[in-house]
Amino acid sequence: MDLEKLLTDRLAPAFAAVAGGPVDPVVRRSPRADFQSDAALALARRLGRPPRDIAAAVLDRAALDDLCTTAQVSGPGFLNLTIADRTLAALVGELAGDERLGVPVTPAPETVVVDYSAPNVAKEMHVGHLRSTVIGDATVRLLDWLGHRVVRVNHLGDWGTPFGMLIAHLVDLGEAEAARELSMGDLDSFYRAAREKFDADEAFRERSRQAVVALQGGDPRTRELWRLLVEQSERYFLAVYALLDVTLTSADFHGESAYNDQLAPTVDDLDRLGLLRPSDGAACVFPPGFTGRDGEPLPLIVRKSDGGYGYPATDLAALRHRTAELGATRLLYVVGLPQRQHFAMVYAVAELAGWLRPPARAEHVGFGSILGPDGRMLRSRAGGSVKLVALLEEAVARATEAARTRNPALDEATTAEIGRAVGIGAVKYADLGTERTRDYVLDWERMLSLDGNTAPYLQYAYSRIRSMFRRTGTGARPEAKILLAEPAERALAFELLGFAAVVAGVERTLEFHHLAGYLHRLAATFSAFYERCPVLRAEGELRESRLALADLTARTLRQGLHLLGIRTPERM
Ligand code: ARG
Repeated sequence: MDLEKLLTDRLAPAFAAVAGGPVDPVVRRSPRADFQSDAALALARRLGRPPRDIAAAVLDRAALDDLCTTAQVSGPGFLNLTIADRTLAALVGELAGDERLGVPVTPAPETVVVDYSAPNVAKEMHVGHLRSTVIGDATVRLLDWLGHRVVRVNHLGDWGTPFGMLIAHLVDLGEAEAARELSMGDLDSFYRAAREKFDADEAFRERSRQAVVALQGGDPRTRELWRLLVEQSERYFLAVYALLDVTLTSADFHGESAYNDQLAPTVDDLDRLGLLRPSDGAACVFPPGFTGRDGEPLPLIVRKSDGGYGYPATDLAALRHRTAELGATRLLYVVGLPQRQHFAMVYAVAELAGWLRPPARAEHVGFGSILGPDGRMLRSRAGGSVKLVALLEEAVARATEAARTRNPALDEATTAEIGRAVGIGAVKYADLGTERTRDYVLDWERMLSLDGNTAPYLQYAYSRIRSMFRRTGTGARPEAKILLAEPAERALAFELLGFAAVVAGVERTLEFHHLAGYLHRLAATFSAFYERCPVLRAEGELRESRLALADLTARTLRQGLHLLGIRTPERM
């Protein structure tokens, strides 16, 4: 049970009685006592009473004796609350026996569709797709653990006019050669070669146009060639996912092409609802509240002037499918911030059309860019976009090298496993540990450092606890009596009890840096505890209690990192 909540439940009725109406006691951790409530200060003006009086009246009425050793009015009217050691110990004891570490399964499970990763066929995945994949993976792990029905959707860019030129280029190369080039994972040069011909050669352009028509008309041979492109790319993306250690599988590919049959009916619906306006030959919806720089209303183009459907129509059809067919009430789109306006307009149109109605709601889980050391968009040395695989391989190579230097006696296989867990973990943590909407600089030194707010620091903290248990040869007893006397023990107890509240917050906000920050605080608090409170050298009940605290810390770190998609090696 979360202590903030426990105290809130006790204080709220007392505040309500004093104020003559409901009041949020605003309980939070405090450097002065264990917790404090500042609500009396805010009430003073309204009640026309000095805040210290209000606080004292609340204390008179609140039933706190079983929880707190002291409850005092301090300063201008704070309530300072000190939790009794036995209360704290009992709560931690409960936690130690709970496999879910105090985090309840949600009482209100929802169907949540998470749209993430979504690279484009025959194009290299770039760092934006890395962020989407990492944040999306943490999202599905968390919501799944909380008991929601999670549908992973990899909204692959596998449709649209560029496929004409890609297919025409494929025909020129011959299938065998094309498959060879694509399977090397060199998607960008394939795409670039097609593009160059398209720009230079009118006959090629014409063949490209015919290929698009044939593809959309369902011509079997053209479809086959398209399938080949898609399959080769999917194979490559799956290799990246395996390296990245995310839970996406081939079953989650649900690309833009999957909505092809729904595009015309979707736009027809908009027409029937009277929402379409012609604009330069295109069919548009003008959702209220969206204007361009010049103040003109902004259109969402749902059918282009050539009669084709584009990205917005596909997103509308997909959204309709997600609410109507999949029954989703929470729709998450993990896509970079530059697409913010696109999604805002898609949601607005979907609301107008009635496809998105409460309790269903859509959220753009937007994120910033990854920057190079120069503070500009990350670029390769040649100036092109950075190949994701190269970046991940570099992370693993650096971490493996560091593991070998640190521990030359370890066998090669173990070293490689540690290198992978730490290298990939560092990349993910650098991403998830930063406020989502901010840009961040890719800094190898910092990411891979064993101290600081990094994955390696947390993984190391975990492995140190595990190695302590290897030395004892026994585990902790989950039913061990918890004894809390030292300040460092109490501090650790408070952190351990805070996990549930942090997870509940992230469930709402999908701001994983709060979970990351929590884990970092927990590890740091543990390390202060470990310095001050001997564990293996303690005796009897005290030793048992400290082992239980250590074990609980390790389990919380492991679970928290697992939710971020980060592995916890047993040794480092
Ligand atoms: N393929 C797109 C891109 O690379 C991202 C798709 C995001 N999802 C969506 N439903 N639009 O930018």
